[in-house]
Amino acid sequence: MTAAPLLRQIVFTLLIGVAVGACAQNQPAKPSGYEPQVGQEGKDVVWVPTPQALVDRMLDMAKVTSSDYVMDLGSGDGRTVITAAKRGARATGIEYNPDMVELSKKNAAAAGVKEDRATFMKADLFETDFSKATVITMFLLPDINLRLRPKILDMRPGTRIVSNTFTMGEWEADVTETVSEGCTTWCTALHWIVPAKVEGAWKMAPGGELALTQTFQKLSGTLRNGGNTSPITEGKMRGDEITFKAGGTTYTGRVSGNTIKGTSPNGWSATK
Ligand SMILES: C[S@@+](CC[C@H](N)C(=O)[O-])C[C@H]1O[C@@H](n2cnc3c(N)ncnc32)[C@H](O)[C@@H]1O
Repeated sequence: MTAAPLLRQIVFTLLIGVAVGACAQNQPAKPSGYEPQVGQEGKDVVWVPTPQALVDRMLDMAKVTSSDYVMDLGSGDGRTVITAAKRGARATGIEYNPDMVELSKKNAAAAGVKEDRATFMKADLFETDFSKATVITMFLLPDINLRLRPKILDMRPGTRIVSNTFTMGEWEADVTETVSEGCTTWCTALHWIVPAKVEGAWKMAPGGELALTQTFQKLSGTLRNGGNTSPITEGKMRGDEITFKAGGTTYTGRVSGNTIKGTSPNGWSATK
């Protein structure tokens, strides 16, 4: 192991020392057999379970429903997948440690969750196609989140991402929440919505040219109409929903590929 990952593992392992006591009270009842240890080695990240109160909050933040397909990257003992399945969602855990995969299956069966709702794959999260998920949950590390970020940004606009504690570099979270009840460590979750890609020049109807610069969910640029050029302010994407202000008007619309269908003010649209 090179110095950086070793240091990373050491820092995480030291932090989990504080977490062990707190996590013990959050462990679901385990079927007898394999007993994982908080802080045990994982391929890229040690195992520390997300406190159940934060699992619940993470799924609340992502507004998980029975229409969702949730994937937990590095799924540990399966608690997030099992909780999502109990909400009626289809959910898959990706976990490198085969013992944890077996434990997750037992935990799911013990929780009365059907196999077609909660599945667990012994796989490397870096080698796994998670593009079909509508919700991604994770408790990894900042540099792993950064490595995953390009793949995540290529997911369908509107896909919800929730991370326990760790950030996504300069892609700021849309929402950050901390749970105080029933949680003493690892109690903060960050939530992002994958933005549609809108950077570039758009022709607006009934008239005008829209030049958009995009930094993740934030937009800037100009709206040119006849001889007037107005700066874009408060521009943002929420999945495929676009909002910006220009020349005193607030524009909202929905993006689909190379088309924007305006929703307010009435009757505007744009094409690339
Ligand atoms: C911090 S734990 C989080 C567990 C679970 N998601 C939770 O929130 O309770 C990280 C998990 O990722 C697993 N892991 C580490 N590297 C992995 C990789 N490359 N592919 C899949 N799983 C991995 C570890 O074995 C560990 O169970």
